[in-house]
Amino acid sequence: MRKLPVWLGGAIASLLLTASAHAACDAKKPGDELTGAEAEAVYDCLKADLQAGYQKGPKRWIPEDFVKDYPGWTKVSAFPAAPGFHGGRFLVTYVNSIGADEYLKYKPENVNIPAGTKIAKESFAVNDDGKASPGPLFLMEKVAAGKSPETDDWYYMMVAPNGTPQAVNVLVACSECHQGNFGEQGGLGYPVEDARIK
Ligand code: HEC
Repeated sequence: MRKLPVWLGGAIASLLLTASAHAACDAKKPGDELTGAEAEAVYDCLKADLQAGYQKGPKRWIPEDFVKDYPGWTKVSAFPAAPGFHGGRFLVTYVNSIGADEYLKYKPENVNIPAGTKIAKESFAVNDDGKASPGPLFLMEKVAAGKSPETDDWYYMMVAPNGTPQAVNVLVACSECHQGNFGEQGGLGYPVEDARIK
């Protein structure tokens, strides 16, 4: 099931509440009614602030370069995609040059993502009143074979909208959902069908 654990949903909700308001970027309608183009317009408006927020402060166990470099990588969703497992939350995914070609095939099986692949997924929310707010940055890194067998050699990391690295139990909070639902496709969730780059 593509469902967020309740506590993770709560953590994300409280992160969103503490994030500053971005009134200029608000949509004219509820988040779950936005078209791809309308979601893209909110993203274009929010993007600079969103990315500046992620950059703030020390990253501690998360490699600084990861967070600094990802905006220059290949965007692998055609517009901010709302997968529906968390209403009105939009995702924009970037993949580095090592993994972009393989990711962009969106293969359902026999996925061969090379070690060194790094993926960053920005998020923002648009609530029922059309109010836009930044969400966490989600990170995945494919490490050398055998380095983290319990997560299929994926490292998972998360940064709050204000730049603070988030300590989560990645096995429960990230890996179990990715492996359980997308194990066949190499642990990758991929953007919803419509939002894939043709
Ligand atoms: C309840 C299931 C679930 C949990 C828990 C979850 N994810 Fe995901 N994740 C998804 C789905 C579904 C997608 C694909 C949707 C999309 O990106 O549009 C995805 C996509 C991603 C992507 C983009 C690469 C890809 O798989 O296509 C990253 C990076 C990511 N998740 C990181 C994380 C991190 C880090 C955590 C833990 C803090 C986490 N995820 C927890 C379901 C989950």
